[in-house]
Amino acid sequence: MDNVSTSTPLSDRDSTQIAELISVNGRTFKLIIDQVRIDSIVSDLADKINSDYAGKQIIFLIVLKGSIFFSADLLRKITGDCRVETIRAKSYGTEMKSSGNVELDMTCSDVSGKHVIIIEDIVDSSRTLKKVSQKLKEQNPASLEIVSFLSKPTERVTDIEVKYVGMEIPNSFVIGYGLDFAECGRQYPDIYALHEE
Ligand code: PRP
Repeated sequence: MDNVSTSTPLSDRDSTQIAELISVNGRTFKLIIDQVRIDSIVSDLADKINSDYAGKQIIFLIVLKGSIFFSADLLRKITGDCRVETIRAKSYGTEMKSSGNVELDMTCSDVSGKHVIIIEDIVDSSRTLKKVSQKLKEQNPASLEIVSFLSKPTERVTDIEVKYVGMEIPNSFVIGYGLDFAECGRQYPDIYALHEE
């Protein structure tokens, strides 16, 4: 299926050039968070983390693939000492609903005794973060927190605590800024929600 976009590249756009509606995999999505707002949210999150972790080395653990843009933006605003690791988690296939089964590839350096912050693009059911956190706790990190750009509080099915949340949103399917629909739509610099035609 063709993906149709009228979105303008990041480098030469102004607010009048952001597409209000985009079509991805035959479904229509409506703009909900533009890049200016995204940048402001990321700055606020970075400020809080910089303040809370002053003088400490942070191990940032990026959960691929959805967090690619958020982690890149956030990390460029971190002022203190840090290291970066990546892991892979997947529970959404081609559907708009989680399979409930989280596949993990936790190949990363040992985090024993380290201050770890997991970077996620979105907390939905929270199954992914619950499973990742449980695995990491087995290594006895000095501390373990989570930063997520988006959160859908109504959809939680676990008791996981997310210390740093960029923005809470209602239960709609969202794409852009790293988030995908059947692997498409990650490349948009803004965030879009499914638009019921
Ligand atoms: C998405 C997202 C989170 C997870 C959130 O990943 O990036 O990791 O789902 O959902 P949950 O709270 O219900 O577990 P996905 O499985 O789509 O893989 P991706 O990151 O490669 O897109």
